[in-house]
Amino acid sequence: MPGIVVVGAQWGDEGKGKLVDVFASKADMVVRYQGGANAGHTLVVNGKKTILHLIPSGILHPDTTCVVTSGVVVDVFGILDEIKGLKNNGLLQNPKQLLISDAATVLLPSHKALDAAREASLTGEKKIGTTGKGIGPAYEDRASRRALLFGDLFERETLRSKLELHLKEKNHLLQSLYEQEPIGIEGLLAQIEQAAIDLAPYRCRDTSSVVSKALKGNKRVLFEGAQGTLLDLFHGTYPFVTSSSTLSGSACIGAGVGPTQIHQVIGVFKAYATRVGSGPFPTELNDEVGEKMRQNGHEFGSTTGRSRRCGWIDLPALRYAIRLNGITNLALMKLDVLTGFEKIGICTSYKLDGETLLEPPVTQADFSRVEPVIEWFQGWNQDLTRLTRLADLPRTATNYLDFIGNQLATPIDVISIGPGREQTLWVKPLFNN
Ligand code: GDP
Ligand code: IMO
Ligand code: MG
Repeated sequence: MPGIVVVGAQWGDEGKGKLVDVFASKADMVVRYQGGANAGHTLVVNGKKTILHLIPSGILHPDTTCVVTSGVVVDVFGILDEIKGLKNNGLLQNPKQLLISDAATVLLPSHKALDAAREASLTGEKKIGTTGKGIGPAYEDRASRRALLFGDLFERETLRSKLELHLKEKNHLLQSLYEQEPIGIEGLLAQIEQAAIDLAPYRCRDTSSVVSKALKGNKRVLFEGAQGTLLDLFHGTYPFVTSSSTLSGSACIGAGVGPTQIHQVIGVFKAYATRVGSGPFPTELNDEVGEKMRQNGHEFGSTTGRSRRCGWIDLPALRYAIRLNGITNLALMKLDVLTGFEKIGICTSYKLDGETLLEPPVTQADFSRVEPVIEWFQGWNQDLTRLTRLADLPRTATNYLDFIGNQLATPIDVISIGPGREQTLWVKPLFNN
């Protein structure tokens, strides 16, 4: 039965959180497999907004198990704040709703301090524009085999000795290289020990076997991606990327399940394009049209509040995402935001040194030189946010959607016309097989 990956097909913030929340009403399990609190996933139910960073977007459904697996970097204080926020709102009343893997990487304030210090030390175009959540330094520790793991929080001696080693190195970097204040061990250790007590109810020794068992038992398991394809560490616009692999394949690695367990990959994308932070963005609009998109779409980051860069939809980037992720079905989000644009652009290809490209070039240096080829479509003025039937979409909107679907040669199964759960038009239901 279905193991379904929901993956961002652009530069993040595509609306993955909304989609996963909608799908989760029919799912038994929602699994986060990479990234950390750099993610900001927004769910809107009856007008009430919930922003999740580390907790999977199935958490509003009391019967859905949410799993944070070993591929995730867990900010222990951040996740506690999220848990407290949910509980204060009458959610997450049963600790069994949330499982955190003993093998997940622990992210500490020292990682955030290092992330911030490194960004501050870079100038101009060299700045990555990270979220400042410590993601790069935490994954570095994992790769260099010195990370604290979530399970270590519950072993007093291991915790102290690993933390000592960790702070020795991080404080040296912070003080000598970046002229920052060191972090004292006793205060931090006491805070972590308290956090461990508070997080103990969510501890799971082996999330990989929990997820595998669910799949084997014909349960419906959704794997929730964070960030987006073009931010992938290996296939994105390096170095302007995040520090994890954001592709669908990462679901298998981060959660610990075999590729044969994945039956469907849903690519989530906006009816236009946005990016936060630095790096190539060929269709970017640095004019009043881009500003109108930002205002209409409330394009300000869920995690950092930064303005998102806005531009026309980029089909070469989407073709690349479909190929890299093996996307089987598409979900198009935020169609309502394009209401009121007299004409709407679609980037169908790029020009680079006289050549036509249907997908992005490999290096970000070339990517930053491409010229987008734009085809123009007539817009619409009708408010779409209250529609309940596909048949009521204006003809110009349908033309726009048909063109995109044909160009991408992949079915668009869901069309989202507002942030709310109910503002969702189904072309084809999920879990139909
Ligand atoms: P994620 O990181 O992919 O989960 O996306 P974010 O939550 O960071 O950003 C998407 C934003 O768009 C959130 O504020 C959502 O509430 C909002 N949103 C999602 N779908 C729609 C939609 O169809 N229309 C509009 N207007 N807003 C939407
Ligand atoms: P969700 O899951 C959009 C971007 C940052 C920066 C780069 C590296 O909400 O879609 P990092 O803090 O990861 O080291 O920053 O990646 N970035 C995101 N952009 N949505 C996200 O997550 C992002 N997570 C990281 O802006 O450019
Ligand atoms: Mg987001």
